[in-house]
Amino acid sequence: MSEADTTPMEAEFDTVAAWTEEAIGELGQAHAIPAACRGSGSPPELAWLAEGLGLQGDDPFLDAGAGLGGPAAWLTGYLHDRWRGPVLLAEPMTHAAAAARRIFDLPSVAAWSQDLPLPDDSVAAAWLLGVLCTTSDKRDVLAELHRVLRPGGRLGLLVLVAERELSESPEGNDFPTRSSLRADLEATGFRIDDQVDGAALPGAPEDWTARADAVDAVVRRDHGDHPQWQLAHDQEEVLGRVMERGDVVTVLLHATAQ
Ligand SMILES: C[S@@+](CC[C@H](N)C(=O)[O-])C[C@H]1O[C@@H](n2cnc3c(N)ncnc32)[C@H](O)[C@@H]1O
Repeated sequence: MSEADTTPMEAEFDTVAAWTEEAIGELGQAHAIPAACRGSGSPPELAWLAEGLGLQGDDPFLDAGAGLGGPAAWLTGYLHDRWRGPVLLAEPMTHAAAAARRIFDLPSVAAWSQDLPLPDDSVAAAWLLGVLCTTSDKRDVLAELHRVLRPGGRLGLLVLVAERELSESPEGNDFPTRSSLRADLEATGFRIDDQVDGAALPGAPEDWTARADAVDAVVRRDHGDHPQWQLAHDQEEVLGRVMERGDVVTVLLHATAQ
């Protein structure tokens, strides 16, 4: 594939992910988790979601659309005293999936979440962070998550939701509305247990943001003149603007597979 064929999603979630791995290598492992949380997730949001997953003992867990694996690595540390079960990362972008395994030594498979390489009823809990807003195949993704979750298994979601008609939208994004998200979850066999807006939770600690920013600065220093960096950067700017205006907001949910 030529560079001209690269989609904004591949630029942002694959090429930039590979560059992020290089930058983490330069700055050190203390930068890894904040820099590898690409969806957003700040520690207070991740903690809210983690508390609703019901993970304990040796429960198997899936991070679907795991990106560079930062959230799953954070989860293993956060729940360390009550949960030591197996973790699987599934991420369609091959550089990101491979980098996640190298950075965090967590098992990672390159797979779309519409077609997961897992048996039925095989995970106790899963989360899907910043993924539903990047695909138009929302019900296929949710139905596949329902297939691999055990009955009663918990799903955590971080979703960017459109509050109104958007005057501009980052390419490759397909934001649900609050009501379409609810309808998609119910139609695929989930019961929504709990929901909170990200804005109601505290922001990320300063040192978390500083580490993520330091990694981004190294990526920019080394690749800022690359067309794919520019493409990804342009998408991030558009997303920043629609969120700043409150046209798109972060919603967190816990749901149960029925
Ligand atoms: C905003 S990033 C979030 C990554 C990660 N969940 C995090 O929070 O750091 C969205 C991720 O969803 C992945 N993705 C997009 N469509 C997907 C699909 N249909 N199934 C699984 N992952 C998908 C992208 O490749 C990207 O890594």
